[in-house]
Amino acid sequence: MIIVLFGKPGAGKGTQAPLLAAALGVPTLATGDELRAAIRNGTPLGLEAKSYMDRGDLVPDSVILGIIKQALSEPRNAAGVLLDGVVRTVPQAEGLAAVTDELGTKVDAVLCFDIDDDEIVRRLADRTVCETCQTPYTGRAPGTACDKDGGTLVRRKDDEPDAIRNRLDVYQRQTAPVLQWYREQGTRVFVIDAVGSVQDVTARALGALAS
Ligand code: AP5
Repeated sequence: MIIVLFGKPGAGKGTQAPLLAAALGVPTLATGDELRAAIRNGTPLGLEAKSYMDRGDLVPDSVILGIIKQALSEPRNAAGVLLDGVVRTVPQAEGLAAVTDELGTKVDAVLCFDIDDDEIVRRLADRTVCETCQTPYTGRAPGTACDKDGGTLVRRKDDEPDAIRNRLDVYQRQTAPVLQWYREQGTRVFVIDAVGSVQDVTARALGALAS
């Protein structure tokens, strides 16, 4: 089972991913988390990705397709995976389809978390994330400890106002067309209202997948 989690920056993909993964019994892959780990570790991948990410631009498709190909060939993802923010351009969707074709699988559904820009700006202005496990929090000060692993909570560079504006613009120009591409392929696309309690949003997403 391969499920694509889709939506604007701050829509709640990273919040929903572990909850949906636990309910569905599959692991997650989040390219944003992979790239931030590469930056922290100072790898060549991290060095290449950093300037794009700090500005809120997309990292080149070739880099993302390398991550997708590697991840989907790992045994831990053989029974399925939840892709969190992994597909953000039509070439990435096409590249993922080529990899899944080779592996004899396919994307089963796309869950698009729907939310307006004002709510996004409110959420991201108040977000901190755990430096180590990347869990997002609202209303928790930088420097305090993560509930899950005790890691330090930090502000993301791309949560500054200019970078947020750029990310929303990039989403409209480069990422939103991916939904239509999936519809044209006949893939099930569910638009989920992402406003409400975290539990309600999870229930909506699981309800859609079960329908
Ligand atoms: P990435 O880390 O994936 O960032 P993003 O897509 O911009 O998404 P976010 O992590 O900002 O938001 P989210 O939807 O996960 O929301 P969250 O759950 O945190 O990517 C970062 C960068 O990496 C990209 O800009 C790009 O440069 C690069 N990159 C990554 N993948 C790429 C790809 N495939 N191609 C090219 N480049 C790529 O929630 C946000 C806040 O809201 C949190 O504070 C949370 O606590 C809160 N919240 C969540 N749900 C609710 C709720 N129901 N009610 C109230 N508050 C809520």
